[in-house]
Amino acid sequence: MNPIRIVDLTALEILDSRGRPTVQVDLRLGNGAMVTAGVPSGASTGTREAVERRDGDASRFAGLGVAGAVESVCGEIADLLRGRDWASLADIDAALIELDGTPTKSRLGANAIVGVSMAAAKVLALVAGRELWQQLRPDGVDARLPVPHFNVINGGAHAPNPLDFQEFMVAPLGAPSMAEAVRAGAEVYTALRSLLSGEGHATGLGDEGGFAPMLRRPEDALGMLVSAIQNAGYLPGRDGVAIALDPAATGFRDPDGRYRVDEERLSSEEMVERYAELVARYPIWSIEDGLAEDDKGGWVALTERLGNRIQLVGDDNFVTNPDIIAAAIDDAVANAALIKVNQIGTVTETLQAMATCRRASYAQMVSHRSGETTDTFIADLAVGSGCGQIKTGAPARGERVAKYNRLIEISAAHPDLPYGLGSP
Ligand code: PGA
Ligand code: ZN
Repeated sequence: MNPIRIVDLTALEILDSRGRPTVQVDLRLGNGAMVTAGVPSGASTGTREAVERRDGDASRFAGLGVAGAVESVCGEIADLLRGRDWASLADIDAALIELDGTPTKSRLGANAIVGVSMAAAKVLALVAGRELWQQLRPDGVDARLPVPHFNVINGGAHAPNPLDFQEFMVAPLGAPSMAEAVRAGAEVYTALRSLLSGEGHATGLGDEGGFAPMLRRPEDALGMLVSAIQNAGYLPGRDGVAIALDPAATGFRDPDGRYRVDEERLSSEEMVERYAELVARYPIWSIEDGLAEDDKGGWVALTERLGNRIQLVGDDNFVTNPDIIAAAIDDAVANAALIKVNQIGTVTETLQAMATCRRASYAQMVSHRSGETTDTFIADLAVGSGCGQIKTGAPARGERVAKYNRLIEISAAHPDLPYGLGSP
């Protein structure tokens, strides 16, 4: 591969979809080629995630400014990368990790580093005359179009309603193509809006574009979803449109280890039984973060109880970290991992986390964050990695729709790419 020479690397403090500051990285080569990357940011973060650098200056953006992270890019990182030849993304990411020097990327800021890493991947694709998904595809892996998981009811940390579970998603597993899958998501979303307003619920939106009705019990939301799937003319279940949950259970666990669901306070064992009942009653195919990140015993029990029937996805407990995922595989925790580039902080390490999963036949779901930009990087990552699954919010709000539209674009340009889960 031809090496690249970066002539200009700059960053800006822009806004994310929640109106909070985030980092945009602009990278330019000598031939004038230029790419931009927008950095996502989460609200229900795992404790072992790579660390965002925030200014903490209360006089700007309530302390959330990212001027320091911007300075990391324009200063130290630009000094490192400019004017030298770089042969691969792995080299660039290794140099970024070394320059930062901390295990969590806290010195320069994971929000600075991941933006540069994403921009570097894009520019390498550009120079190679490839699309980004082609550039990101590991040797020996077949690219495919992922099943989209549309988060249509928001609760937890993403909405001001009493729902304890954070995400209720619909996943058109049975759709014949990418475009038909996006259509199904949009039609179910519209049917759900009618259903909610017909029953007198507000149809205001949560952070990821799903509705945030004043429902309390997970069963209430699940019942609504099944009706919306049917009203839109689809079959609830794996042959049609299935349901996926991300309760984000760390968010409703009390210090004494009990889980608060509606009015109940459940032990870890009772929580597992509650999920078993939900799975028996509703067409749920996947549960992410069903238990808290530090409830390892519970995770093992959950995996034993439901792991052969549904997908169990680790997010807050795995944080896209190849070493943590490898240890979890040894401990038989979960059978799938959520994949978020900013949780680990470089694209190379993200690809390593996915390779670790593949070796153990753990499934992978590429994911947005609740704070997003219009950058569509993760759509290409999901296709190139061949992982078969993506979640990037509701089929509404520009920053979410941008990713789904990018998937439609890729599928139209490459009709040979298969759609669907594939095998992990
Ligand atoms: P976050 O949540 O982006 O707000 O951290 C997403 C998730 O829990 O999957
Ligand atoms: Zn999650």
